[in-house]
Amino acid sequence: MAKVKSEDKEIEVKDGDFIKDACEEIGVIIACADGTCGVCKVEVEEGMENLNEINEAEKEMGCEGNERLGCQCKIKKGEIKINPVF
Ligand code: FES
Repeated sequence: MAKVKSEDKEIEVKDGDFIKDACEEIGVIIACADGTCGVCKVEVEEGMENLNEINEAEKEMGCEGNERLGCQCKIKKGEIKINPVF
C-alpha cells in the first residue's frame, strides 16, 4: 500500500493506482478528471520520485517544478505529501 498525505490527512492507495480519489478526499477539486481543466493542480511537497512521469496533459496545463495534476498521477509505491494549489 502507498500513502497520499496532506497537512492533516493520510489516505491509503494501492501501489500503481491513480491518486485522484485520494486527492479528492483531502480537498483537491476534481472536475474534468481528464487533464484538461487544471483545477486539480497540486504541489508535491514530498515523494515526487514515487509518482509516474509527468504526462503531456500535465505539461500542457503548465505543471512545472513540483506541480502535478491530481487527476493524472499514479503512485508507484511509498508516500507522497501534497497541497492543493487551488
Ligand atoms: S480535474 Fe481537470 S485537469 Fe484534473
